[in-house]
Amino acid sequence: MLTIKKKCAELLAKRVESEFGSGLLGADEIFSMLEYPPEREMGDLALPCFKLSRTLRRSPIEIAERLAAGISSPDFSEAEAKSGYLNFRINPTSFVSRVVSDVERLGDKYGSPMTGQGKTVVLDYSSPNVAKPFHIGHLGTTVIGHSLKLLHEFAGYKCIGINYLGDWGTQFGKLITAYKLWGDKRQIEEGGVDELVKLYVKINNAIKDEEDASVAGKPEGTPKSSPLADASRAEFAKLEHSDEENLALWRWFVDVSLEEYQKTYKLLGIEFDSYLGESFYTDKMPAEVEKLRNMGLLEIDDGASIVNLEKWNMPVCLILKRDGSTLYPTRDIAAAVYRQKTYGFDKAIYVTSAAQCLHFAQWFKVVELMKYDWYDRLVHVPYGTVSINGAKLATRTGNVILLKDLFDEAISRVAEITREKNPDPERCREIAEKVGVGAVVFYYLSNNRMRDINFVMEEALSFDGNTGPYVQYTYARACSVLERAGGGGAITDAPLGEPEFELAKAVSVFPERVAAALAEYEPSIVTRYLLELSAAFNRFYHECSIAACADERLRSSRVALTAATEQVLKTALHLICMQSPKKI
Ligand code: ARG
Repeated sequence: MLTIKKKCAELLAKRVESEFGSGLLGADEIFSMLEYPPEREMGDLALPCFKLSRTLRRSPIEIAERLAAGISSPDFSEAEAKSGYLNFRINPTSFVSRVVSDVERLGDKYGSPMTGQGKTVVLDYSSPNVAKPFHIGHLGTTVIGHSLKLLHEFAGYKCIGINYLGDWGTQFGKLITAYKLWGDKRQIEEGGVDELVKLYVKINNAIKDEEDASVAGKPEGTPKSSPLADASRAEFAKLEHSDEENLALWRWFVDVSLEEYQKTYKLLGIEFDSYLGESFYTDKMPAEVEKLRNMGLLEIDDGASIVNLEKWNMPVCLILKRDGSTLYPTRDIAAAVYRQKTYGFDKAIYVTSAAQCLHFAQWFKVVELMKYDWYDRLVHVPYGTVSINGAKLATRTGNVILLKDLFDEAISRVAEITREKNPDPERCREIAEKVGVGAVVFYYLSNNRMRDINFVMEEALSFDGNTGPYVQYTYARACSVLERAGGGGAITDAPLGEPEFELAKAVSVFPERVAAALAEYEPSIVTRYLLELSAAFNRFYHECSIAACADERLRSSRVALTAATEQVLKTALHLICMQSPKKI
């Protein structure tokens, strides 16, 4: 599929060749120089020729004029040289017709760069820590991660979504101790992960109290001690040595937690291909530690085994603690080796908060030093922090906002608004879920992922801001136009105006945006694109009569353009984990 920008670049590459000689500038290079001018008077596409003057050793003015002279193409009605720019005007009728026929031909594949055929991508995302709250900090990894999966699937990659559950570690020693002391089976069966978190919070507080008491009134430097912390370590050691009672409790805690997470995943339409968590890699680490040792990469530092990364300006990567126990990087290395063996990935993507950047940079480097030839296929995708404004959301676990509470709040607020229009309670709930959850996701994904976000629920839910509800509403509007029109429509030779042309342009840039979102691991490019496309459609909707248009040929073209827009809105919404209800 050739977007208009690509066509233009190819046309120009030929012009450069015949005017200035071959091998100077390729179509790809020219493609990256072409701009969409901010104002229509400057044309629909423009080549800033100063970018070429170095290579072509001519002034921008001369370049623009010489290139303009020989351009003839049915796609462009004009190519004008103006102050060192070469401005193109697109031929509206043939352009709209071509864009619409591209969408018709490719359907839900329209926009796919088709770069992933035969390639496999493994995506590690969401990955909450069992018995710790699944909180708003996990929103980023969950929705950025899933959106990246959908984008890669769209590009034709085989994708494996992995939920690398934090299902191992000393927190289980604490949890088991707390459960044995204060736990109530029925309460956990009914209250789920919230009860586990309560137990976890309770024992952490109790340990802190014991530690504080142990040094109160004692000289400074007295080591802290806590019998509960000792007990927790002992319970974890038992778990590590496969004590049956503790293993059963651990399994139960993991199941209870997963059940809860599934509710949130279901709301978001997320399914994972693998839930192999940290515990799975316990027996896969010794081989990697051995390899590190044999390669002479391990150093002993204050009793701990480390890899020195000084040469790369990073602190040491901890592989084994003094007591020989393994660490977070050790497990990640073993997991990457396992995943390469199992899936033969072409790319492994990890989505976590930016707080973990160093961790990933370190163990990626260690994998390189271990001479695994796939080291350069590892990609860390970090994101910024989230805070909440006017934190009126109910929390049952202290001062963190749980993800499910955030979604519940959004859903019930939307339900209040839509109840009047949807008296059927089941239907109302269904719409409220799609719109409420979508609003949160859209709001989150409209910012560049590295930006720190302050979440304001009112803003996210507004129907007339640049929001998810606004885009979903636009989609529903397109659907209802098509329903009224009785479907169909085809581009005819009826002359089209500015709104149609602008809308077709918005539809035509979708493939470029998808490619950019993939290249930059940035779903927000698709989110912002949805706003652009919605604005163009709404303008068209307000300025042109579509289904009710009296001119049969014009009506047919407009309906066809509406159908193309409906398709692209739907595809793009899907790519950012949003649903597209036909009615709201
Ligand atoms: N469970 C970790 C956390 O919540 C995230 C895991 C990210 N994935 C990884 N392979 N390290 O912080």
